[in-house]
Amino acid sequence: MQPSCHLVRPDQADEAAVIEMVMGWKAAGGRMHPGLLRDFDGRYAEWLDRLETIGNGTDPDAEVPQTLYLMKDEAGTILGAVAIRHALTPANFTVGGHLGYGIAPAYRGNGFGSLILRLALEKLAGMGIARVLVTCDADNEASRRVILRNGGVLENQVTDGRGTLVNRYWIGIDPAGL
Ligand SMILES: CC(C)(COP(=O)(O)OP(=O)(O)OC[C@H]1O[C@@H](n2cnc3c(N)ncnc32)[C@H](O)[C@@H]1OP(=O)(O)O)[C@@H](O)C(=O)NCCC(=O)NCCS
Repeated sequence: MQPSCHLVRPDQADEAAVIEMVMGWKAAGGRMHPGLLRDFDGRYAEWLDRLETIGNGTDPDAEVPQTLYLMKDEAGTILGAVAIRHALTPANFTVGGHLGYGIAPAYRGNGFGSLILRLALEKLAGMGIARVLVTCDADNEASRRVILRNGGVLENQVTDGRGTLVNRYWIGIDPAGL
């Protein structure tokens, strides 16, 4: 049975758990998503400060404000993370969309990917965003299924700056249905 999970913003108390998740992810290999996790270089307090400025729109290097959430189970274990962008820009309208998410390798294949997107849609609905853009590499079958399971409708495919084919999906949020 899937444990009940929730999204929380990382704080001081999460330092050890964040380090454990990042180390485990690096040991297992594969690119960490969302990108805000890749920014973590071991200096936790500085990372939290940067998340704060990125979230409140005062980071000069961030194209758009975004908020990072950790997904924890009821025991407090961090299973994955999602970054929610507060708006679409010309760049993320093409590739990137409103959010990026990932489940730590040790916890994949248990429905948590589908769950983290659903929980993120609730956050987006709370921000007043009714149509959510989600993109994934065309060959990322697990992410493609996560998006479809959450009601994604394929608009088109584009080629990104790396020459990779990317699928663009829209999810219409019905707050009553969440
Ligand atoms: C994409 C990702 C979040 C999926 O997480 P997950 O917890 O394994 O997802 P789920 O268990 O909810 O599985 C979702 C679906 O994908 C399928 N699936 C899972 N792993 C798969 C794989 N390696 N290959 C093909 N399908 C896979 C599941 O069977 C399920 O299908 P269903 O809905 O038809 O039953 C996870 O693989 C991940 O973090 N990948 C790296 C980061 C990433 O690619 N993020 C997305 C960026 S757009």
